Amino acid sequence: MRSALFRSLLGLCLVLSRLTPLLRAEAPVRASAVREAQQRLAGQLIRTPFLHSPLLSKLTGAQVFVKLENLQATGAFKERGALNRLLQLSPEERKRGVVTMSTGNHAQGVALHATRLGIPATVYMPESTPVSKVERTRALGASVVIKGATFDDTAALARTVAREKGLVLIHPYDDPAVIAGQGTLALEMLQDQPDLDALIIPVGGGGLITGCAVAARSLRPEIRIYGVESTRYSAMAQQLEGRPVQVGGPTVAEAIAVRDVGAMALSLLPGLIQGILLVEEDTIEWAVAALAANLKVVAEGAGATPLAALVMHPTLFAGKKVGLVLSGGNLDHAHLADILRRYKGTLEDKPPVPVPKLLGKEVINTPLAPVARGPYSQAIRHGDLLFLSGQLATDPKDGRFRGDLDIEGQTRQVMENLKAVLGAAGLTLEHLLSTTVYLADPADFARMNQVYGTFFAKGPPARATVGAALPVAGARVEISAIAGR
Ligand SMILES: Cc1ncc(COP(=O)(O)O)c(C=O)c1O
Repeated sequence: MRSALFRSLLGLCLVLSRLTPLLRAEAPVRASAVREAQQRLAGQLIRTPFLHSPLLSKLTGAQVFVKLENLQATGAFKERGALNRLLQLSPEERKRGVVTMSTGNHAQGVALHATRLGIPATVYMPESTPVSKVERTRALGASVVIKGATFDDTAALARTVAREKGLVLIHPYDDPAVIAGQGTLALEMLQDQPDLDALIIPVGGGGLITGCAVAARSLRPEIRIYGVESTRYSAMAQQLEGRPVQVGGPTVAEAIAVRDVGAMALSLLPGLIQGILLVEEDTIEWAVAALAANLKVVAEGAGATPLAALVMHPTLFAGKKVGLVLSGGNLDHAHLADILRRYKGTLEDKPPVPVPKLLGKEVINTPLAPVARGPYSQAIRHGDLLFLSGQLATDPKDGRFRGDLDIEGQTRQVMENLKAVLGAAGLTLEHLLSTTVYLADPADFARMNQVYGTFFAKGPPARATVGAALPVAGARVEISAIAGR
């Protein structure tokens, strides 16, 4: 039941037969391009280890393998895509130089290899880029321009400069050669461990997961592939569900804080991955600390998201052989020290359960207040799930129905409240996965249920249970529901 629920929650119940984008002649990235990239890059990058972690396996209940891309020369996988693109420039293009935009890791990949190959490189970075990433990009020989409040503003600037000066723009994620380069990472994982059951991969613009998914499916069609985003920047999950994108807020995983995901990723991913898992900020921080404590490696926030996803969604991976992409390790030392201090003592043990967050509350008072509580509803988020509850007007002392509206009116009010708290979370009643309605008096059932049913165009959610025993002493009627993104 839980896994069935989860699949519908993802909204991306994708089956292996849907590999058509791979087979179409116009597919922008093919497995052959990833194999060619592997040959092109051979000897120019570090072949990073793919380590089994007994401690993380014990902690999570899965057989955990970690791909240590933090050990690349620049501390992140981004060199793969950047170098694959640079090596395909014409002599003319090499002479003119390249321009790119990046929150840091792609910048360093371009800077290192462009300098090494004698290609002038200009990098645009958002104002929020960590100081260490700016300094290292400069030290690697690129000209750095810090401009733009968000990555997307910075990207617009870089595009204009590339157009005006006739330079090749090396896009960090929406370029077939970059995507093919990133895919070499998954080739290596499957070459080292051919019987992997699942991969968990961080998602920013989507280049990494797209390249990896194309490569991994070509070698092992049955492998399960999950992306990870922070709940604050779940742009890819929202886009794949066809919802308007809403992102924002501080995040420890700034390298994947993207609003405008790649068009190529968007067109290819529905046929390639199981879905996107969302993780909370505190679980990402816990994962940074747990990787340091258990595996003795430094992961930046983005690089720790796969472990965070594994601990937040353990049932998906129990007993499975899972490859986590630790995509980068560029975290300011002071920030790392702060995280380690705060999570000390929670690392060798079970991960802390993320605290459910109250998203909203709607209360309509009745003229009988404060004796009777008017119909109210609230929504609480726990991971990807929203728990909603609503109650009719009852007297808290004896639980007796005291509303000024009749039961139909109150039911309607509860449902309107639920709609409002769902709306605040960007969802509608159609997102409800199941509901349960509890009644104190079974005689009210038919009247209440008739109103309840009118709120659902396609009928109440499949697993609705109506008329179950009252769980809370004194509650007259309670409607609780689970909604998923
Ligand atoms: C450390 C790290 N992990 C993951 C990603 C996500 O890659 P993509 O933007 O290709 O999805 C990035 C992108 O910058 C990154 O720097």
